[in-house]
Amino acid sequence: MTEETPALKLSEYPTPDGRFGQFGGAYVPETLVAALEQLADTYRRVRESDQFWSELGELFRTYVGRPTPLYDADGLTRHARRNLDGKLGAHFWLKREDLAHTGAHKINNALGQALLATKMGKSRIIAETGAGQHGVATATACAQMGLECDVYMGAEDVRRQRLNVVRMQMLGARVIPVDSGSRTLKDATNEAMRDWMGSVEHTHYIIGSVVGPHPFPAIVRDFQSVIGRETKAQSLRNMGSLPDAVVACVGGGSNAAGIFHAFIDDKVRLVGVEAGGRSNAIGEHAAPLSLGSPGVLHGSLSYVMQDENGQTADVHSCSAGLDYPGVGPEHSFWKDAGRVEYASVTDAEAIDAFLVLARTEGIIPALETSHAIAHALKLARELPREANIVINLSGRGDKDVEEVLRLLGGEVKPAEGRVRHQRQKRERKKDEPRGYVPPSGSSEEEDRVTE
Ligand SMILES: Cc1ncc(COP(=O)(O)O)c(C=O)c1O
Repeated sequence: MTEETPALKLSEYPTPDGRFGQFGGAYVPETLVAALEQLADTYRRVRESDQFWSELGELFRTYVGRPTPLYDADGLTRHARRNLDGKLGAHFWLKREDLAHTGAHKINNALGQALLATKMGKSRIIAETGAGQHGVATATACAQMGLECDVYMGAEDVRRQRLNVVRMQMLGARVIPVDSGSRTLKDATNEAMRDWMGSVEHTHYIIGSVVGPHPFPAIVRDFQSVIGRETKAQSLRNMGSLPDAVVACVGGGSNAAGIFHAFIDDKVRLVGVEAGGRSNAIGEHAAPLSLGSPGVLHGSLSYVMQDENGQTADVHSCSAGLDYPGVGPEHSFWKDAGRVEYASVTDAEAIDAFLVLARTEGIIPALETSHAIAHALKLARELPREANIVINLSGRGDKDVEEVLRLLGGEVKPAEGRVRHQRQKRERKKDEPRGYVPPSGSSEEEDRVTE
């Protein structure tokens, strides 16, 4: 009789060959197989190394500014409760990744992978970028560690995220505009992969989300999972319990995987929000989990937007960072396992939410993040007042100010019916922790969480 393999907990995926259920894997040309094996070997070693996590932890604390705060969003809560009966309207908390150095969660992964690249003796870094946040984060990590840096970016994104193009150049990176296809993130990723095939000996490709062939989805998730570990510890302190729901936007899926992972084995409702664009018609949105089907894109099997011949379809979103036809394989697995709900919101709803957060909280969010806010506002209206919703505020919106102004027709209307409000002070169960929260199993963990 053969012994049955014990089932993995959801948090324990992927399997050693990089599978999340049927999803994931490494569908790559021969030239990349050795590089991916080297990366998987190095990462396997590094993952067990306290020294690596303590080096990265020090950077997270002193360079990124971790832990990022969990902010009690009383103004947004009051906004959601307008015209509701007294029992409904959950309370909002914002996980402030917008306050991380460079203004988004992308720095967590960029620093982790740049450090990994130095351990592999690679001197050059390449990256793809859509919104430019991953490009800026990578250029920053390369400046900090003395690595050469080339960033591929679709020509349409170069136009709509100009501020970040200049930032990358100032940080010493070369920005290479990509004119093929829809001139957005998918095309930039194609070019980065092509570059890597010819340069793999001395170049590491810092992929910007939980996408791509094994071992990238697991590596990126692990570096981003600091968001969820901090949120869990902060929720227990500030709410006295785990949150009822956690909401995050999903492009490739790295900020969502980063905050969801710590809660995946718990009884917490997890909601990923995709870009619903202009409509549900193919080419008009970027919502592969909601409207796509399984297929291979950029080296892994996952939900993808494709036509009847299996060709990757064009997508659209007002937000460059969500304008991608694929999604990380772990999200596909979580969707099919029924563990995470996925929804989508339209461009117009996201732009509304962008202004709502700016006006109720004084925080201008990224357009990507605004998708999570728009959906969370709907969710809060169905949940009781005692419920707590954490929104992952994945990035700040400075980069989007020009584009939102253009989409609003060149004019921002004044706020209507603004009422001065006395912010309510909520009782804290305990004080905020001061240190960053290292991964479980690390010898630093106990100390830091209780610091
Ligand atoms: C602020 C921000 N949030 C979210 C995303 C979407 O990426 P992901 O789904 O990997 O978090 C991006 C991508 O550029 C971003 O800049």
